[in-house]
Amino acid sequence: MKLSIIILAAGLGKRMHSDIPKVLHQLAEKPLIRHVVDTALALKPDNIHIVYGHKGEQVREALADTNINWVEQAQQLGTGHAVAQAMPDIADDTMVLVLCGDVPLINLATLQALCSQANNLGVLTVLLDNPQGYGRIVRNAQGQVERIVEEKDASTSIKQINEVNAGIFIVSATHLRRWLASLNNDNAQGEYYLTDIITLAVQENVPIHTTTSDSPYQVMGVNDRLQLASLERYYQTQQVKQLILAGVTVYDPARLDIRGTVQAGRDVSIDINVILEGEIKLGNRVKIGPHTVIRNANIGDDVEILSHCVIENVVIGAACRIGPFARLRPDTVLAAQVHIGNFVEIKKSTVAQGSKINHLSYIGDSEVGSGVNIGAGTITCNYDGTNKHKTIIEDRAFIGSDTQLVAPVTVGAGATIAAGSTITRDTPPDALTVSRTPQKTIVGWQRPIKKKK
Ligand code: UD1
Ligand code: CA
Repeated sequence: MKLSIIILAAGLGKRMHSDIPKVLHQLAEKPLIRHVVDTALALKPDNIHIVYGHKGEQVREALADTNINWVEQAQQLGTGHAVAQAMPDIADDTMVLVLCGDVPLINLATLQALCSQANNLGVLTVLLDNPQGYGRIVRNAQGQVERIVEEKDASTSIKQINEVNAGIFIVSATHLRRWLASLNNDNAQGEYYLTDIITLAVQENVPIHTTTSDSPYQVMGVNDRLQLASLERYYQTQQVKQLILAGVTVYDPARLDIRGTVQAGRDVSIDINVILEGEIKLGNRVKIGPHTVIRNANIGDDVEILSHCVIENVVIGAACRIGPFARLRPDTVLAAQVHIGNFVEIKKSTVAQGSKINHLSYIGDSEVGSGVNIGAGTITCNYDGTNKHKTIIEDRAFIGSDTQLVAPVTVGAGATIAAGSTITRDTPPDALTVSRTPQKTIVGWQRPIKKKK
């Protein structure tokens, strides 16, 4: 049997009060529908169909890199009608899994269980303390599913049922095609309900399998921003829990956010209010101080990042010390034992082993050798207003404080640049270069005297 996955994403999402389509709102910096598509892909289906409607172009653009069959549902006439739009593209010898684009945390193992246990028709259900708003699972005296009743169609007694429809079904394409054709919209919302296929299966004596999830979060849909916020918190709690159990010390699990994937070595520690985004690799014994944001970084063993740093798209070698208050911008590569101190910004530069840039500097488009010492307030003037130019500082150079290096320029190996210099031409190795007006003293000079009124 083939497997086709249909993801429903045509709903309006009115309660988001947003100009962005609901399924493009983000959870952990990833669009809701991307979470669903990633889980769908992990099931290795033969094809994925997304039913889109409202602002569909934006949704298509967001998933342009994935092979998806896009199916338009011009008018949102209900979940059954939505699924029917995709059926012409699905062959008979197929099991169809229906997912919702706004249920981002549906878990792979749950779907695998549902798919492997159901032969003709399976539905995922969940027990909720507060089932309000969901379709209720009505079972007969033998415990077999009889029908699903939407909140708006439910009597007071049915509203008491706390087993609900997660909106996720697995069903054989032949049955589904036949059942969809006989749905009607004779209900409180005037919609073609997918849930009515249950009643049709019962009429035909087709056995219905149910898988019941014990986690409300993995079947929770996002209808408003409050639900989105609570899913985000749940997701963060889970991510941080995994990291802690894998051996990372997290000072306060509630004050670490992971918006991507983190791979951590042994005995890593992370202080409070840290945000990790994108792909992050942390070596053994890395320490991350408080109030730091790191996006896409490969950080070597024994690196210490002090508080208040912003780090993006960088490689940091072993035993470097960064911060406090440092900013490492994209395409920065630091070799081992580099020290980057407070109020230092580094952009698109390489710094070789053991070099120190400890205070108040801007280093951009530069190649810094090993054992270099860059004094406080040094600026590489890399931009002439039109083009960017390169600064090369060779091994063991010593750059005095408050120096401007006007690129393109090379400071030779072992060179010393006197403090306060403006360097516009290459400087020779192992020599002192000074460029500043010589100091003079005017003997007998007197300060002005304050005038009397
Ligand atoms: C649906 C189920 C309900 C279940 C709940 C779980 C039906 C009739 N009801 O209700 O039993 O408890 O999900 O979250 O199926 N959509 C379309 N086109 C449409 C209508 C909806 O693509 O014409 C999509 C929506 O974008 C959404 C999904 O289908 O992703 C569910 O639709 P929604 O309107 O949220 O259904 P609920 O009322 O929540
Ligand atoms: Ca919903």
